[in-house]
Amino acid sequence: MTRTVAVIVGSARTGSFTRRVADALIARAPAGLACEVVPIADLPMYNQDHDAAPPAEWVAFRDRIRPMHGVLFATPEYNRSFPALLKNAIDIGSRPYGHSVWGGKAAAVVSVTPGALGGALCNHAVRQTLVFLDMPVMQQPEAYIGNVATLFGEDGEPVDATAEFFTKFMSAYGKWVERLTA
Ligand code: FNR
Repeated sequence: MTRTVAVIVGSARTGSFTRRVADALIARAPAGLACEVVPIADLPMYNQDHDAAPPAEWVAFRDRIRPMHGVLFATPEYNRSFPALLKNAIDIGSRPYGHSVWGGKAAAVVSVTPGALGGALCNHAVRQTLVFLDMPVMQQPEAYIGNVATLFGEDGEPVDATAEFFTKFMSAYGKWVERLTA
């Protein structure tokens, strides 16, 4: 059985390192794991006033996430947390109250930065939110992708050790999704 997971990228920047990492991870998904990038850049900002008559973009986003077996979050770190772009998508999926699309889905979090610290604080800020949303998050291997500008060759492919880690990470995530959707 093929499991399908949403890949949500916390940067909409042209040339985003995070998107590049997400694409490289998707390219290394194991057999039986289908990964689909679900765009979040055009989601109107969440406002509880609109719960009764939500914008079409919110409805489409929730409908897209609902049938997924898992969600892989790839995000940059902004000011030692994760970007509002990603928080907005998470908030939209969590509402209206009692109708969250996130609960129970097998999650993983990858933080990405050109800096040396690997976005560890943003990675754990996402995890904290996912705990509340009742999403089981893969614990190991952790993915704090630091110094990202040095990890891709001129051909756009990750260098050997990075490619190896991405394959290992996706293999573990495939098993995590399988275990939680058996
Ligand atoms: C950053 N950046 C950053 N980097 C980091 O390692 N820790 C941080 O707390 C921050 N804070 C931060 C705030 C804001 C508002 C911006 C715009 C940037 C730098 C960030 O990692 C860098 O711009 C990345 O290139 C962003 O990821 P994408 O867009 O390349 O995927």
